[in-house]
Amino acid sequence: MAKLLIVYYSQSGNTEAMAKAVYEGALSSGATVSLKKAAKATSNDLLDCDAVILGTPNYFSYMAGAMKDFFDRSLHAVRGKVDNKPYAAFSSAGGGGKRALDSIDSVCNSFNLKKAFEGVVATGKPSSEVLEKCKELGGKLAQL
Ligand SMILES: Cc1cc2nc3c(=O)[nH]c(=O)nc-3n(C[C@H](O)[C@H](O)[C@H](O)COP(=O)(O)O)c2cc1C
Repeated sequence: MAKLLIVYYSQSGNTEAMAKAVYEGALSSGATVSLKKAAKATSNDLLDCDAVILGTPNYFSYMAGAMKDFFDRSLHAVRGKVDNKPYAAFSSAGGGGKRALDSIDSVCNSFNLKKAFEGVVATGKPSSEVLEKCKELGGKLAQL
């Protein structure tokens, strides 16, 4: 059974709604899933999963600081131990655009994580279509 980790940050709930949809999708595909806010997530969580899904709002065309902090706190402990571990990401933005996702890709590249699927981007409150895509993303990661 796949063990998935979802790490996300959300201030006004949009990214959190996406995270919960990813969680539901992964659970219903039979995975064991840990859903963690970035401030509570640790390097051990990253070591202890088969795949990770990262969710962030777009802040100034970058990931939220709390997500960056999670990566900053984790690098030394996981370097060389998570090579090619699959990841995917999702993001919520006020005006659209995927630059926050690009920033996640860039950092995941430094961790040698392997992008498994294209990310999901929402503008504002996630629509039912976006939430469905998030569920699918969780389901696909669970079946890797
Ligand atoms: C500090 C801050 C910076 C933001 N910068 C951007 C931005 O550069 N581009 C954009 O499209 N939205 C920007 N937004 C809007 C958020 O990305 C958007 O409201 C998002 O849905 C918030 O997600 P949340 O509800 O999970 O907190 C910003 C919001 C905040 C609070």
